[in-house]
Amino acid sequence: MPRLKTKIYRPTPANLRRLAKAIQRGELVAVPSETVYGLAANAPDPRACPRLFNAKGRPTPDPLIVHIAKAKDLASLAEVNAAAEILAKKFWPGPLTLVLPKKNNVPAIVTAGGASVAVRQPANKIFSALITQAGCPLAAPSANPFSYVSPTTAQHVLDGLGGKIPHIIDGGPAEVGLESTIVDLRDPKKPTILRLGAISATQLSKALKQRVLVVHKKLKTNEQAIAPGTLLKHYSPKKPVTLYPKLSASACRRIPANEAVLKFSGPEQENQFSLCGKKANGALAAHNLFAQLRALDHGSWKKLHIELAPGSSALAAAINDRLQRAAAK
Ligand code: TXA
Ligand code: MG
Repeated sequence: MPRLKTKIYRPTPANLRRLAKAIQRGELVAVPSETVYGLAANAPDPRACPRLFNAKGRPTPDPLIVHIAKAKDLASLAEVNAAAEILAKKFWPGPLTLVLPKKNNVPAIVTAGGASVAVRQPANKIFSALITQAGCPLAAPSANPFSYVSPTTAQHVLDGLGGKIPHIIDGGPAEVGLESTIVDLRDPKKPTILRLGAISATQLSKALKQRVLVVHKKLKTNEQAIAPGTLLKHYSPKKPVTLYPKLSASACRRIPANEAVLKFSGPEQENQFSLCGKKANGALAAHNLFAQLRALDHGSWKKLHIELAPGSSALAAAINDRLQRAAAK
């Protein structure tokens, strides 16, 4: 693939108009969202979506999430049921993706040939404005090379995809820092979470007034999964990662000085870092997680020793899900 010149844009109205036109021409635009940065393409354009897979080095059997600016646009892409209406009303715009039976106008490349489509209305105003101005739904995977840590800043996107994509919009750091919760509503009687995120099973169960299950895939190898969010090795730094349920001060001291320690909370010193500073704070830890993993991966550390998030909150579970995948080889 020839190297492209990658340009970073401020989200001014003039730049958004220009980039909406680029989308209409079938070009890729990296865009901020409240979860992680996405790499957006005109979803109905058969020339555009293959470029997403090429730029990311992502296998085509992995379906894409389609992003819409207005919740009512869901009906043009998917067969909407009552559960979807309830969740869209309560949690959109926001970090929740709904999987539903697809309508015929959604191209096969977007759904990996499958009969369902994943749809999300992002809360980020820049993303939403780009969708509105482009006048089409945008297919957007996370804007990182396949299986690497997701990007939460424009610089992360440039680090991974510079030379492979033409346009990046810089909207500042992604607020949540973790990819959206994905809930499968194909059978509205059995709503099932396929990927953990900031919106919890408890919140979804409360809204739907029925139990929402979480798929726990015990995967041994990557070959057993087809969807990237369900691959065991995913979100992976290049350095070897070892996880610990708890890292005591004495355990930290025994770790060699050329290996890094990432505690959930606590003071930072020498080779010791922390996800959320001195005081435990799940939202801040999620916000910082991918930036910290990238920073440590780019440092001169030989190995990374990482403490799992404590407790049983939705954010702790979502953080630990990403860490377990980061540690998988
Ligand atoms: O927060 C997010 O969801 C971000 C932002 C950009 O919106 N996007 C994102 O996309 O994380 P990606 O492609 O990195 O992950 C999408 C996940 C994959 O695990 C894919 O398998 C799953 O969504 N997915 C997409 N379509 C699906 C479908 N029809 N059924 C089940 N899973 C689906
Ligand atoms: Mg991804």
